[in-house]
Amino acid sequence: MRVLAVFGSPRKNGNSARMLEAALGEFPEGTEIRRVYVAEKNIAPCCATRDCQTLGYCPIEDDMQQLYRDLEWAEIVLFATSSQFGDVSAPLKAFMERTWPLRGKLKNKIGGYVVAGRRYVESSINTLHAFILRHNMILGGRGAIGYGYHEGDVENDALAFEDARKMARRVLEVYELIYGCGESPATGVG
Ligand SMILES: Cc1cc2nc3c(=O)[nH]c(=O)nc-3n(C[C@H](O)[C@H](O)[C@H](O)COP(=O)(O)O)c2cc1C
Repeated sequence: MRVLAVFGSPRKNGNSARMLEAALGEFPEGTEIRRVYVAEKNIAPCCATRDCQTLGYCPIEDDMQQLYRDLEWAEIVLFATSSQFGDVSAPLKAFMERTWPLRGKLKNKIGGYVVAGRRYVESSINTLHAFILRHNMILGGRGAIGYGYHEGDVENDALAFEDARKMARRVLEVYELIYGCGESPATGVG
């Protein structure tokens, strides 16, 4: 089982990251997990030239090139984001925009998410749902929401961790439905 964990917050050990780590703890031994902290990456926003439509790939040479390979490699993609100005973090939004050239290639991968915020998180959820559904991925259950402001505040929100683990278990259930005995095809994509 191959899981790509995409951390959107600039805080590497922030509230959303803690929740996603709790979710990752539900995956069985032997699961291959790649962690990506998008705020540490050099990801330019989409430049909207639409060159990718004729080329079949994105010509912008930055860290997204490896992340394209990571996305194709993964069977499960889990997101963590802080709610920022009512939406996902800016680095995560740039990452999402840049996946446009992968249209069709993420089909049937299973998606899940956790969001941390002080109060207003609905639009972040909408953006995550839109990403997963526009790529024809499978929404692996309800995401988890954690409340907090300062780094670590979410530790006081027991439901946030309970829901994060629940989200992971639902993703595992969907994975089992798709791949049966747990065997999955190797993609050969590095
Ligand atoms: C620039 C910025 C904008 C924010 N906007 C919102 C917001 O619109 N809604 C909200 O609930 N919290 C907002 N917050 C608070 C964060 O979502 C909150 O501190 C969260 O716990 C951060 O999660 P993290 O520790 O994973 O980064 C904002 C924080 C920052 C830095």
